[in-house]
Amino acid sequence: MLRILVMNGPNLNLLGTREPEVYGTQTLAEIEAMIAGRAADLGVDVMFFQSNHEGALIDRLHDAMGDADGVVFNPGAYTHYSYALRDAISSTGLPVVEVHLSDISSREEFRAVSVIAPVCLAQIAGLGAESYTKGLDTLVAHVRGEDR
Ligand code: DQA
Repeated sequence: MLRILVMNGPNLNLLGTREPEVYGTQTLAEIEAMIAGRAADLGVDVMFFQSNHEGALIDRLHDAMGDADGVVFNPGAYTHYSYALRDAISSTGLPVVEVHLSDISSREEFRAVSVIAPVCLAQIAGLGAESYTKGLDTLVAHVRGEDR
């Protein structure tokens, strides 16, 4: 069975109370439950990881080379400036789908730039929690070769 890692970066542990007008009212645990439901429908195993620390996210990506077939990743604000995360993604060679709850292209100027997008399979943003389920669909279709 395919194993997919769903990773969340800084401040996403605060979903539910964090700027609900931007990010909605669902907690991360509720979003993860929704993703787990979609994973079950797709017949894939899913693992979850959240950290507020860049190095911990990099370490988990490295470990994913041994335990995952692909990654759905919301790097939070690291999206916009972490060349270290970008290098970690390209170093693993794993397919990674970048996801965001909000539409990063229509917010502050600094958010429109994603330094990780060039090394990701796709970017899905602005669909709220559904960005994650669509990200999972996109990733699984790619790993299964259904997008070719
Ligand atoms: C975010 C967008 C980022 O700009 C922000 O720093 C986040 C969340 C999103 O999911 O919309 O932490 O990645």
